Amino acid sequence: MFYPLSVKDITEIHGLVRGFWTSRIILTANNLGLFDHLDKPVSARGLARRLRLDERALEILLDALTGLGLIRKSKGFYRNSRTASRHLVRGKKHYQGDILRHQDQLWKRWSDLDGILQTGRPSEKGKDHESFIRGMHNLASDKAKGLVSLIGPAPNDRVLDLGGGPGTYSIEFAKRGCLVTLFDLPQTIDIAREYVGDNHPSVTLVEGDFLKDPIGKGYDIVFASNILHIFSSRENQKLIKKIRRSLLAGGRLIINDFLLHENRTSPPSGAIFSVNMLVNTPSGRVYTTKEMTGWCRQAGFRRVRTNRVDESVLIQAEK
Ligand SMILES: C[S@@+](CC[C@H](N)C(=O)[O-])C[C@H]1O[C@@H](n2cnc3c(N)ncnc32)[C@H](O)[C@@H]1O
Repeated sequence: MFYPLSVKDITEIHGLVRGFWTSRIILTANNLGLFDHLDKPVSARGLARRLRLDERALEILLDALTGLGLIRKSKGFYRNSRTASRHLVRGKKHYQGDILRHQDQLWKRWSDLDGILQTGRPSEKGKDHESFIRGMHNLASDKAKGLVSLIGPAPNDRVLDLGGGPGTYSIEFAKRGCLVTLFDLPQTIDIAREYVGDNHPSVTLVEGDFLKDPIGKGYDIVFASNILHIFSSRENQKLIKKIRRSLLAGGRLIINDFLLHENRTSPPSGAIFSVNMLVNTPSGRVYTTKEMTGWCRQAGFRRVRTNRVDESVLIQAEK
């Protein structure tokens, strides 16, 4: 995620504020599935007929997408740029359209931010769980291999992928010979079943609420990726103690989450994602590395190490 490190003048403020225009243009193009039809050159008229859209409106949008560099225009015909073709065409390996659909949902909830500042309560607008979980796969699919290799599990390790979502990381652990339990809410497991399929028999899908239900025991690794920012500090401290009890002696808790320094203001990606948690959860926020490592030590983990991975932190806590 790119954010400027500091806003210096009014031009930059205008640019940031108008950012929602470009955001809206891309989200609408994605909602309408435009990129799916732009791998071959097509005119605005041809595409408007195919998708039953208003030709004038579509031409204006296509020109703006061309201005943004997402598509190309030549002699009145439009086609995808390399990036759009690789990431925004449904069915392609590196597809990111689901996470864009999730962002479109967030758009509606973020529009409640003024009121949220008065109540402190999250938006009450509906959530689309399906685009959220598929979006998690979009985001993790390019990272999972590198992250799991950094963790370095051994073959036959018993791994608990806690709140594992669509199962992208579970599959990567399974590819390394681990025996994986993906534990998540029933509505998420329904989607994970599709991604994990029959190709990964060493991944077991378990439905439950990890705050209330037993999570099993005898694990070498518990992987908690993008989980802690959903909950309050109190809930997280309780969860980390529960995780420690589920691990074998010498086992590791691995936390993967947003990076936030002690000032809670940098990097901007962490501070801004905290606002996303304010909008979407009753008590979540991004926690500093010091807070999370502190909870691990309080729970009794003896060796706690941290690595920065891009704008995230990877915490490894050994029992
Ligand atoms: C932000 S996603 C992270 C998915 C995955 N770990 C990743 O990093 O891509 C959070 C996941 O936690 C799951 N989750 C949230 N609360 C839960 C709970 N109380 N019990 C079990 N799973 C939960 C959600 O269903 C979702 O799959």
